[in-house]
Amino acid sequence: MFLKHEQKVWKMEEKEKLEEKKPLLRLNEAVPDFEAVTTHGKIKLSDFKGKWVILFSHPADFTPVCTTEFVAFAKINGELVKRNVQLIGLSIDSVYSHIAWIRKIKEKFGITIPFPVIADLDMKVANLFGMIHPGESTTAAVRCVFVIDPEMKLRAMIYYPLNAGRNMQEILRLIDALQTADKHKVATPANWRPGDDVIVPPPATQKAAEIRLQEGYECVDWFLCKKKLPT
Ligand code: BEZ
Repeated sequence: MFLKHEQKVWKMEEKEKLEEKKPLLRLNEAVPDFEAVTTHGKIKLSDFKGKWVILFSHPADFTPVCTTEFVAFAKINGELVKRNVQLIGLSIDSVYSHIAWIRKIKEKFGITIPFPVIADLDMKVANLFGMIHPGESTTAAVRCVFVIDPEMKLRAMIYYPLNAGRNMQEILRLIDALQTADKHKVATPANWRPGDDVIVPPPATQKAAEIRLQEGYECVDWFLCKKKLPT
């Protein structure tokens, strides 16, 4: 049988073990603030409070997939700005490497990179956000996308490996889905696109379930009802 003291020590050890297993970042929790050197000078993540932020990492400057992604991120930047979203890039390269690569992108593609790119040489931000996945690389960040809301809460995260470029339309769609869900207190179904019907939150009580089918929604059953949003 446990003595009280032993029980306390055992509980503390169990708690520590759970803390060790805790992922670095969890959805709907505050993200850690940081200060970093970027191609736009020193920034703090909290400088962007009040805006949505897409913090994304790329494995390395002057690499082919990353170059196509940078061009593609720059091309959706106008749409993101309309949605109050700030892009911030990151890789474990120097600011001089970033500047040289950005200049090369301008030369070869005629595209100006409009967002700051973090030079994370000491991997401070990459480690803080869990961007290093040793199974992929111990020296380069994987392709992460962190969607951070105006209150600095993490709202979505996507991880891609080194050899697969990200889909910009999906990133835009995700921003639209999150902003629509917040504004209208709804959820969005699989493959939802702006303009499509949205999902009404399912009833949480037996009583609410009883009346759900009489509320004028388009329902498959009481737990799956959709509605149109005002245009
Ligand atoms: C690329 O962006 O092409 C790339 C970067 C790191 C490893 C493999 C490919």
